[in-house]
Order: sequence, then structure tokens, then C-alpha cells
Amino acid sequence: MCPIRIGLVGTGSISEAHMEGYSVLAREGKVELVAACDINRPRAEAWAKKFGFREVYGDHKEMLARSDIDAISVCTWNNAHAPITIDALRAGKHVLCEKPPAMTVEQALAMQEAEKESGKVLMIGFVRRFGRNADLVLDFAKAGFFGEINFAKVAVTRRCGCPLGWFANSKLSGGGPLLDNGVHLIDLVRYLTGKPKAVSCFASTYNNIGSRTNVKGVDRYMSVDPSDFNDVEDLAVGMVKFDNGMTMSLEFSYSEEIEQGHIGVEIYGSKGGAVVEPHLTLMTEMHDYMVNITPQMDHVNDVNFEAEIRHFIACVNGEAECRNRIEDGVELMRIICAMYESARTGHEVLIAR
Ligand SMILES: NC(=O)c1ccc[n+]([C@@H]2O[C@H](COP(=O)([O-])OP(=O)(O)OC[C@H]3O[C@@H](n4cnc5c(N)ncnc54)[C@H](O)[C@@H]3O)[C@@H](O)[C@H]2O)c1
Repeated sequence: MCPIRIGLVGTGSISEAHMEGYSVLAREGKVELVAACDINRPRAEAWAKKFGFREVYGDHKEMLARSDIDAISVCTWNNAHAPITIDALRAGKHVLCEKPPAMTVEQALAMQEAEKESGKVLMIGFVRRFGRNADLVLDFAKAGFFGEINFAKVAVTRRCGCPLGWFANSKLSGGGPLLDNGVHLIDLVRYLTGKPKAVSCFASTYNNIGSRTNVKGVDRYMSVDPSDFNDVEDLAVGMVKFDNGMTMSLEFSYSEEIEQGHIGVEIYGSKGGAVVEPHLTLMTEMHDYMVNITPQMDHVNDVNFEAEIRHFIACVNGEAECRNRIEDGVELMRIICAMYESARTGHEVLIAR
């Protein structure tokens, strides 16, 4: 099979994680690294040299005009996800678009339409679906381990963890930690629980702490272009009700006066429960005793970019059905946008279709 010829747009922090996959596949002869693009062209040049891409562009449209590119990764700020993805699909390229798929439901629907018209693969970067912990919990869920799913709790809380730069600028990001980290965990729980649809939500957001760039002695994930501007929420909390009866509680923060940051994914059903993160544990009743089960697995990773990129290339080659479809991205944007609307209005929001 001919190698898939790759372009990548947005040569910032997360593009390096995509290279964990593409570099391995290039060594295996499954992909060819053709062109890199960034509006900061010198950055793209240095990046292309580091990873062995032949060509460099400062404008994605010029890169997409090349006939020797089959597939691209979109690793830009969120505001460029929908336009670049749609341009690429129309130019006949397959697309792996980073999360969140878009900034609005309308943009996500336009991406879905462009995918349909193009006949190409559009995959969304829900990387947590490729963790081994997700594989195991999904297998247990399919075998009926949970019974009826009652409740899920998701959280990514940070005391001083705003990634700064465009992440904190709502015009470029579309939102704060609810959009940035919420997409990962809301999607993961939907993926593990049979993809229920949301029917209503209630949320509150708070923006009265800020990015805390004065704080010393802590490391944080950062945009390659950090700055002090901040108009996104520091903290979002809420509840979502789904059509399978499940209720989900959420807490996502960049800045919150907590003792310690935390990541949590918990699922509770009528027959069993699971702590998916931070440490995989399954809970159930056996022979009239309550037991906690710790699975024996090598490398129980929660984030596996190599597996994500391998799956994308398998989809492009027609060897696999795309796991991360834009339909899930549309559903996610419905939930997140409804939560922001609830926070704005102070009321429960019904999620209509
Ligand atoms: N999957 C994950 O776990 C994960 C983690 C972090 C970030 N992300 C996502 O990855 C994306 C990028 O985040 P990052 O941390 O790498 O940001 P970053 O600021 O480090 O890098 C973004 C790069 O995109 C470039 N860019 C912006 N608009 C562009 C355009 N129109 N055309 C070409 N280049 C453009 C910027 O110049 C910059 O170099 C975001 O959508 C973010 O949500 C995903």
C-alpha cells in the first residue's frame, strides 16, 4: 500500500504529540511527511526541520492546493478548526481535527456537511478514547457490568493551570476549561455508556480569579504564545441529564482555590461502578460481598496519541471504521453550548434537536 502523504497545520505544542504517531508510521513506511503550515512561518520552518517535513507554508490554502497531500492534521487555535477542516475536505483531503471540533454547533454541523459531500474521512481528536483504561471499561460496559447507568462524575480541576495565550481569549478559543477539558471527559463518558444524547443541563461559570501569571513555583501546559489577556471562565460547574436516564456532574477549572488539581472520571450503575481516572478501579458485589477490582494491565495509559494517529491512517486506508465521528462532535457542541447558555441565563436549558 502506498504511504499516505501528510500535511499538518498549526505547529505549536500539541502538534508534537501528533508526531508521536506520524514519526513512528513514517519509519514503518506507512506515511510520508510532506508539508507543515503555521501562520507563524518561522515556527513552521523550525518545526518542519525538526520532524523531517519537506515543505513549509504560512497559509493553509496554499498548502491544500498541493495534489501530493492525502491527509492533514489540524492543530491550530480552536477558531480555525472549522474553516480549515472544511477547506481541506473540499480540497479532497482526509482530516484529523484536534478537539474541540469547533466553537459552535453551527460550525460543527457545517463540518459534518462538508464531510458528507467530500466522501473523505473526518476524524475528531478525542484522544482519550484510545487509552487502555477506556478500552477495558468499554469492554466491561458492553458485557453489562454496570447494569443501568445512573450517575457519572467528571472533573479536571486546576489551581493555577490556564494555558494562557489564545486559550484564554474567547474569540480564538470559544470558551475556557469547560470547552477545553470538558470535551475530553464528557465525550469519554458518552463513549463508555452507549453514546446517550443530552436532554437538559444546568451550569454556572465564574471568572473572578484570572490566569495567575504572578504565581511562582508551578509548571503548567502552555500555548507556544503565552500572554496575560483573559476573558474566559476560570471555573465551570454543572449537571447534564441524558436520554438513558444518566445524570452527569461536571467541574472544570483553570484557576480555582483548591488544595490540589484533580482529574476524575467516575461511572456508577445499578450493578457496578468504575473509577476510570485517576486510577482504574471497578466496583461491584460478588458472593454477597462488596469488592473493588484492580485490573492487571501493562501500561494503563489514558492518553495515547500514537494509537489515535494509527487509527486515523487505518481509516484513510479503508482498514477501519472511524471511531471519532463528527456526529459525536456535534452532540458535544450541543452540550457545551447549552451549558454556556445556562450559565449566561441562570436557568436550566433544554437541549432540542
Ligand atoms: N488532544 C489534546 O489532549 C490536546 C491538548 C492540548 C491542545 N489540544 C488542542 O490542540 C490545538 C492547538 O493547541 P496548542 O496547545 O498546540 O496551541 P499552541 O498555541 O501551542 O499552537 C497553536 C499553533 O497554531 C498556529 N495557528 C493558529 N491559527 C492558525 C491558522 N489559521 N493557520 C495556521 N496556523 C495557525 C499558531 O501560530 C500556533 O503555532 C487546540 O485546538 C487545542 O484545543 C489538544
